[in-house]
Amino acid sequence: MRKLITSGILLTAGLFIFSCFEGGVLNRDLVFKNKNGDVVFSHVYHVKVKKQRCSFCHPKLFKKKFGMDKFSMEDVWQGKYCGACHNGTKAFDAKNPKNCSRCHKQTEKGEGK
Ligand code: HEC
Ligand code: HEC
Ligand code: HEC
Repeated sequence: MRKLITSGILLTAGLFIFSCFEGGVLNRDLVFKNKNGDVVFSHVYHVKVKKQRCSFCHPKLFKKKFGMDKFSMEDVWQGKYCGACHNGTKAFDAKNPKNCSRCHKQTEKGEGK
């Protein structure tokens, strides 16, 4: 009975981990809360759709723990963190005012939170 419970727990834990990392990719989005409009980062989109490699971002640009890297918009504009790609070469330019809203999702009122 004890054995059964233990294997049940292990199985549940295994399924849980598996469901978070579908095919090795984190399938829940990371949300950077922001007054200027929250920024949603999708691993599935970057890795599966846009074919970006884990090793390009980890550990050079980002730690593998949400909220560990403290960075500002200025850092991104200087080519660090997201700005290593979002510079108009590898991906759309974060400095272009037309692109702010592609990352910063505004509330219905259109004025951020
Ligand atoms: C385009 C860049 C990018 C790529 C490619 C990428 N990641 Fe990440 N990853 C991030 C960012 C950004 C964070 C959040 C870091 C922070 O907040 O400090 C993160 C966080 C994580 C976390 C922690 C999640 C949490 O909730 O704490 C794990 C695990 C992770 N990545 C695994 C991977 C794996 C595995 C791959 C390849 C399949 C991968 N990442 C590819 C950018 C990337
Ligand atoms: C590639 C995605 C991306 C684009 C494009 C982008 N931002 Fe950001 N922005 C972020 C991220 C990520 C943060 C940091 C969030 C955090 O760490 O909490 C941020 C933070 C900010 C902040 C908060 C204060 C600060 O300096 O950190 C402001 C203000 C800001 N962005 C303004 C802008 C403006 C204006 C534009 C367009 C010219 C823009 N952003 C375009 C991703 C982006
Ligand atoms: C390894 C390169 C790389 C890094 C680092 C990176 N991105 Fe991206 N990102 C891309 C590519 C490539 C695209 C798709 C190409 C394009 O649309 O210009 C993309 C697209 C996006 C989109 C989709 C926007 C839309 O309207 O289609 C968002 C949102 C985004 N990135 C946010 C972020 C944020 C936030 C960060 C930092 C936490 C980040 N990215 C870091 C490469 C990267």
